Parts: sequence; C-alpha cells; structure tokens
Amino acid sequence: MSNFLEYARYYDLLYQGKDYEAESRYALEALRRRMGRTPQTLLDMGCGTGQHHAALLREGVAQIVGIDRSEQMLAIAGAKGLHGASYHLADLRDLELDREFDAIVSLFHVASYMTDYDALDEYLYSARRHLRPGGVLAFDFWYGPAVIHLKPETRVLRRTGPGLELTRISESEWDFNQSQVKVRFEMILRSEGEQASFSETHPMRYWFLPELERALAENGFQNPVFTEWLTQKPLSLESWNGFATATKP
Ligand SMILES: C[S@@+](CC[C@H](N)C(=O)[O-])C[C@H]1O[C@@H](n2cnc3c(N)ncnc32)[C@H](O)[C@@H]1O
Repeated sequence: MSNFLEYARYYDLLYQGKDYEAESRYALEALRRRMGRTPQTLLDMGCGTGQHHAALLREGVAQIVGIDRSEQMLAIAGAKGLHGASYHLADLRDLELDREFDAIVSLFHVASYMTDYDALDEYLYSARRHLRPGGVLAFDFWYGPAVIHLKPETRVLRRTGPGLELTRISESEWDFNQSQVKVRFEMILRSEGEQASFSETHPMRYWFLPELERALAENGFQNPVFTEWLTQKPLSLESWNGFATATKP
C-alpha cells in the first residue's frame, strides 16, 4: 500500500513542532556510546524529508545517504540542498547500495512500517548488509506493551502555513490479533476560501522485545540495547516509543 504521497507535501508543516535537533543529538549520542566515536558515514533508512540531516551534519557526521520509497518525500529532502547529504529512492526491504556505512539510523517509526515478520527480517537484513563490521544500527519503534496499555486514540492536529490552514484527523483501527494499528489520516486544507481534503491509511505494527531480539539475532546483530526513545529510561507501560541499538559483529 502506498502512502506518503500527497501527504508528503504537508509533512514538514505537520511536524514543525517536532524537535529534530534533540532527536538527532539523542540518536548520535547512542551511536557514540557504542562506537566510541562519531560515525563519519551514516545511512538513514526511511529518511523521509531528511529532517534530521542538518543537525546530524552539524554534529560531525561527514556524509549521509538517505533512503526512502516515497519519491515525494525525497524530492523535499533533496530540495534542502544540504552539503554532505544525498538521497536514493528504494524499498528498504531490498536495498542494494553495494556499500557499507559506519552506522545506520532509522527514525520516527520506520520499523513499525514493517508490519509483519518477513518485512522486519528483510529490513534488518538490509541494514546488516549496509553496515561495516563493528557498525551500529539505531532505530525507534512502537513498543507493544505501551501501545496496549495506552491504547490508540483519535487525534486532531491543526497547523497554519503561508496562506494555508491544515487540519489532520488521525483515526486508529486496532487489529490486536495482528499487533497492528491502521492509522487513517484525513487532511483538510483551507486556502483562500477553498477547502479540499484527502486521506491516507498507514498500517503500523507494534513490536515486543522478544520479537525484536529474535529478528536482530537472526539477521546478524549482537548486544541489543532497548530504552525509551529520547529519555534513556528503561521501557515502561508509558513508553509508546521504544529505541534500540545493536551492533554488527
Ligand atoms: C514517519 S516517516 C519518518 C521520516 C523521517 N525519518 C523523519 O523522522 O521525519 C516514515 C518514512 O518511512 C518510509 N518508509 C516506510 N516503509 C518503507 C520502506 N519499506 N522502504 C522505504 N521507505 C519506507 C516512508 O516513506 C516515510 O518517509
């Protein structure tokens, strides 16, 4: 199922309040703790509009390659013209760059866009093939126990851009037998007295630690460490977003 099509055009406006600086520093600190240095070459799996890249480059990463399957998201990333960042259209599940990186990041729920075991395995296998020995993968994910505890809910987000008023309604359909939440985004755009709308559905998979531990081990990663995203606290029933790092031996 395709998503991040028309939605892409409004992505940066929707997430203008998201602290990409702090997220980039957090992910990079986690990589530095494991690697003992700042990674020089970084692969961003599911980079979207490249919102983390300015901060990562400023923090000392020399070269970033961003991968995404949405042409629309990549066009926005490329138009930012960041020196040191380049972009490549591909599905993460069968990525073939014929190149190894010091580290990989995959941020803002990309691992939860992998909605079954096969997809998760292919995604992690791709990651391992693009890491040099000793390289580290860092990704966040929807943490199953917290999703069940907190429960998916309907949310409304409003943003104002130049000549544009945007309302996004997110409605969730919870398929607890498949550990999935289908999030339907309805976007209502108002501009110069005109109104338009469109919708996209994003199926998301929440993951439990034994599932991630199995998939990481079977795809050649060692010593996984799991914390809450952005806090370094242990995962709890309140931690909707988990964060994992693991090493390719
Ligand atoms: C919520 S966005 C996150 C984008 C970016 N990392 C950020 O933090 O803003 C998830 C991204 O993952 C990409 N994605 C999901 N599944 C993918 C796949 N199988 N192959 C390539 N990209 C994928 C989507 O196209 C989308 O751009």
